[in-house]
Amino acid sequence: EKGGYDTFMEKEIHEQPHAVADTLLGRTNENGDLVLDEMGMSEEELRAIDKMVIVACGTAAYAGMVAKYAIERWARIPVEVELAHEFRYRDPVIDEKTLVVSISQSGETMDTLMAVRHAKELGARTISICNTHGSTIPRESDGVLYTHAGPEIAVASTKAFLAQITASYILGLYLVQVRGGGHDDGVVEVMRELHQVPEKIQTVLDGMDRVKEIARFMADSRAVLFLGRHVGFPVAMEGALKLKELAYIHAEGFAAGELKHGPIALIEPGQPVFIVVPSPDSEHGLHGKVVSNIQEIRARGARTLVIAEEGDEDVVPFADEVIRVPRTPALLAPLLTVVPLQIFALELSTAKGLDVDQPRNLAKSVTVE
Ligand code: F6R
Repeated sequence: EKGGYDTFMEKEIHEQPHAVADTLLGRTNENGDLVLDEMGMSEEELRAIDKMVIVACGTAAYAGMVAKYAIERWARIPVEVELAHEFRYRDPVIDEKTLVVSISQSGETMDTLMAVRHAKELGARTISICNTHGSTIPRESDGVLYTHAGPEIAVASTKAFLAQITASYILGLYLVQVRGGGHDDGVVEVMRELHQVPEKIQTVLDGMDRVKEIARFMADSRAVLFLGRHVGFPVAMEGALKLKELAYIHAEGFAAGELKHGPIALIEPGQPVFIVVPSPDSEHGLHGKVVSNIQEIRARGARTLVIAEEGDEDVVPFADEVIRVPRTPALLAPLLTVVPLQIFALELSTAKGLDVDQPRNLAKSVTVE
């Protein structure tokens, strides 16, 4: 049942090219137009939407953070992302022009369900991005966009995360198709790039020997930090979450721009830091800014574990290790850059002799508050 792998998590990490490909499958007609027939809303209604709020917990919320960057850029609609358990106890300013998008692998997370109910009571329209057919959250939402990751057994989410990000891109592109977009990132163009991602994930998976070695050497680490910017910020958060839950190591993800506002005080000789580097093609000179961050923390003795695009040579002088991912448009990069962080957490947990599929104190589906 584990398909030759030692753990479900390892199997599910290796299923990620399929999780993305299957989530993309059958979304377009012969003209290349997106056809989402379970949206539960007419194009007219979608055009009337003036704001989107994404509600989710844990890893699914990090998928929502990635979605914010892409959907605002492509569809020019304001997107807020909120943890479902915070949203449900606020008095949020939303109405029938607000589209509330919940993201949930299980479709049964109590706080996310309650957030959806809260949104409906306030008159908002609701769409669920979900991996489990017929589960409660999609049943209670106006519309649904199913992720096709297949059943996720390991408690820690991996392939569902990639599928959630993929589905949220599809949703963003659908909004561009229906409402028009603000930039020249064409729907057909982005879809073509997305279809190339599964093969690139496979390339990342095929090159993980060094990451596994690093993980085994680091089994005694006391704390590991993760830095990222733009869509690399939620990836850093997700990398930290995976390490906490699987290897019981203190881990924190930061936005690299925050370093000087506090976290840089944590840097001491030998402190391991993963840095998710934006593509050299990123706008606003973000790449150069992150390279400077690497330089700054290295000068203070950090051990820098750098995730960078193929061909990015600027990082090399400041990197103790460079982990390569194939080139891809900046907004799509999380589908690649998170993979080494998943493998790292898996391998380190295994090196410590821990139960990767069933970490202590955790349940797969949190159906209580
Ligand atoms: C982390 C993890 C959790 C879930 C969260 C939401 O690896 O699995 O953080 O992402 O509990 O679960 P769903 O997506 O089922 O609502």
